[in-house]
Amino acid sequence: ASEQLVDSFGRQITYLRMSVTDRCDFRCVYCMSENMTFLPREQVLSLEEIHTIAKAFTELGISKIRFTGGEPLVRRDVIKLFKGVGALPGLKDFCLTTNGSQLPRYAQQLKDAGLTRINISLDSLQEARFKALTRIGDLHQVIAGIDAACGVGFKGVKLNAVVLQGRNDDEVVDLVKFARDKQIDLSFIEEMPLGVIAEHDRAETYFSSEQVKELITEEFPLMPTTENSGGPAKYWRMGDSDSRIGFISPHSNNFCGDCNRVRVTAEGLLLLCLGNEHSLDLKAILRRYPGDTERLKEAIRNAIAHKPEEHRFTSDGDVQIVRFMNMTGG
Ligand code: GTP
Ligand code: 5AD
Ligand code: SF4
Repeated sequence: ASEQLVDSFGRQITYLRMSVTDRCDFRCVYCMSENMTFLPREQVLSLEEIHTIAKAFTELGISKIRFTGGEPLVRRDVIKLFKGVGALPGLKDFCLTTNGSQLPRYAQQLKDAGLTRINISLDSLQEARFKALTRIGDLHQVIAGIDAACGVGFKGVKLNAVVLQGRNDDEVVDLVKFARDKQIDLSFIEEMPLGVIAEHDRAETYFSSEQVKELITEEFPLMPTTENSGGPAKYWRMGDSDSRIGFISPHSNNFCGDCNRVRVTAEGLLLLCLGNEHSLDLKAILRRYPGDTERLKEAIRNAIAHKPEEHRFTSDGDVQIVRFMNMTGG
């Protein structure tokens, strides 16, 4: 692209994450409360508005877009959106983060729409426990979804597991074995304090990447790499497998220095950093000045200039972001 977005710390912003819906067909215990209320429809960006924002960002030099949620694939006509965005000039990497439940149905259409990489959440391989963690999810459907994504030829399928003390920390090695079997990458994620969830005390379930790594090395020696996917994960390799093991450690590892990303929430707020509340209301601009792309782009340029230097998460939970993850889009 002719233009580039650079913030006041010299970081080039090339990666946009967009939540296409706050709704989800699961209710993961660390993400939502049991009786989560979702946004009224008129507060959520329309598919046209999402397309307009994505287009503006690619014109500003964004080369990677990841759609997240909630669960992106529960939004009606989302494939239409993906086809349009997949055709935008300047887009090199086009990714989706999903819980996997709808992939048996959509994998081929996603491939056809030009998606390049898919991240799928998988926190447990035990049916009853998977149900307990997601409250309503079905493990077999997700495993069928993983197989469907691999089956239609996606090269960049990756698994994500959030590890919670006392809930799934004893499955770390099993998850690694599963990823090795499927020959795909797996990242372990430290839980982040997004949204207050009454039934869930994060101080009790915190489990560090260091602890996860120790469990794995008892079984599989890990060798450090300098590889990265342009994201916050630090990757390790096993000698006898092509699968990489990543660690996303917002608490113990501050990767803000080379942050390359911003986010747009389901209701159209541009978030400059996951761990800060700074935002710009893109939806308000779009609805007040329909069709005025120059104004939209100018507002985005100004906002990027105010991207904060770093997030302030700590494991003792003293920083609490009010937004929930399904709004924020991870
Ligand atoms: P790629 O790097 O594009 O492969 O993806 P990713 O690992 O960033 O994306 P994914 O949607 O799979 O998210 C995995 C986890 O990383 C989620 O829990 C995200 O919330 C978290 N994550 C992604 N970006 C950031 C970030 O900038 N800061 C923090 N603290 N966490 C992030
Ligand atoms: N902390 C860390 N990861 C989370 N995810 C959802 N909520 C949280 C949280 N509070 C994960 C999902 C998915 C990814 C996009 O974000 O499990 O893998
Ligand atoms: Fe849905 Fe993902 Fe949140 Fe689970 S973590 S409830 S799958 S949005």
